[in-house]
Amino acid sequence: MIFETLKPQIEAIVSKQEKPIEQRLLNICEVLEKNISYYNWVGFYFRNGLKEELILGPYVGAPTNHTVIPFGKGICGQVAVSNKNFVVPDVAAQDNYIACSITVKAEIVIPIFVNGKNIGQIDIDSNTPDPFTEADERFLEFVCAKVATIL
Ligand code: SME
Repeated sequence: MIFETLKPQIEAIVSKQEKPIEQRLLNICEVLEKNISYYNWVGFYFRNGLKEELILGPYVGAPTNHTVIPFGKGICGQVAVSNKNFVVPDVAAQDNYIACSITVKAEIVIPIFVNGKNIGQIDIDSNTPDPFTEADERFLEFVCAKVATIL
């Protein structure tokens, strides 16, 4: 199972205290994008202080214009408000969706909690239709929990 193989790699990256946090977050994006064939854009968004908006953090994949996303807008903005995982099997079926690339078919966003507060999220786009299962959700919750320990 690829996820079980990747968990120790995520833990190893997170615990590299000599590396800046931004670098460790980028390394996590790289490991996910490289090892999971249907993860085609992997990035972090974080709440901008007390403002109700998300700011793009480290990411791997095509550059995006959406470096600032207001709360409530798009899949990411909705997760900032709902505090819940959002799995989108078909982005074309979503009304409140911000398109980054025409190749994207599906998206998953998992919130990151620090001391019970939703402070950001991991966002993954896939060029494969309906690729995500509960195993992706559980694995990405693991990744987010590890990331929360260094924020
Ligand atoms: N599709 C996202 C916007 C971010 S990009 O996927 C990088 C959304 O609807 O919130």
